[in-house]
Amino acid sequence: MSDDVIQRRRFGPGLAVALDVTDLLEAESIVKQLPADEVLFKVGKQLFVAQGPEAVAMIRRHGGRCLLDLKFFDIPHTVEKAVREATRLGVWGMTLHALGGGEMLTAARKAADSMAREMGTSVPFLFAVTIPTSMDATTLKEVGITTPLEVSVLHLADLALKAGVDGIVASPLEATVLRKALGGDFLIMTPGIRLSPQPGDDQKRVATPMEAISAGADLLVMGRSILRTDDPVATVREVLTQLGTLVP
Ligand code: C5P
Repeated sequence: MSDDVIQRRRFGPGLAVALDVTDLLEAESIVKQLPADEVLFKVGKQLFVAQGPEAVAMIRRHGGRCLLDLKFFDIPHTVEKAVREATRLGVWGMTLHALGGGEMLTAARKAADSMAREMGTSVPFLFAVTIPTSMDATTLKEVGITTPLEVSVLHLADLALKAGVDGIVASPLEATVLRKALGGDFLIMTPGIRLSPQPGDDQKRVATPMEAISAGADLLVMGRSILRTDDPVATVREVLTQLGTLVP
């Protein structure tokens, strides 16, 4: 386990707020309202495609840390180059697909380490997605994967950790299994967090913040259940208080 991962696990559970918007000013207004030292800001495909690296720069200008969630999945050479550029942007961490295979994951690890060394910056955290939390046995079968979901998740997580990633993106419901099977030396990031169940949700495997933390998650990703509330700042404070990262 790297020193950074040890530090992170000692720090306790954290929250990444998904800036799933198109407009840079809208993203900035969210960033400005939230405590930059208490949360991470997740930039995903929507904001990055619309605004590019300026989204990362804006977060950094406000003293925030960016988790770049582009879920890289390509030939090893291409992913290596993309990870180098993301590291150059100064992101706190980034995501990639374990399904890309061991060679791709190893190339990403090497690229992040070497670029950070060249720039004299901290090494970004790499998180591997196993099976997206929007998928279940039915949608997996549709794409030809008939291995039980839990077996695929465990297999992909093991592959990614052996390639040197720092953490796994997984459903809260899988966190317990991952911790039991693979130990405590890695981070678990869990999307699919809901403060209460939402009918017709596209996230098929969901849990509350406390359920996810009890299951062994280190970092919760929350988008719509924060941004779509009447008072996103109050919702973030409520979640942080639940996680114990704020003194009430
Ligand atoms: O709005 P919601 O809380 O469902 O947003 C979850 C965020 O986490 C989205 O930005 C989504 O892209 C991301 N994510 C996910 N499942 C994964 C990895 C990332 O939902 N396996």
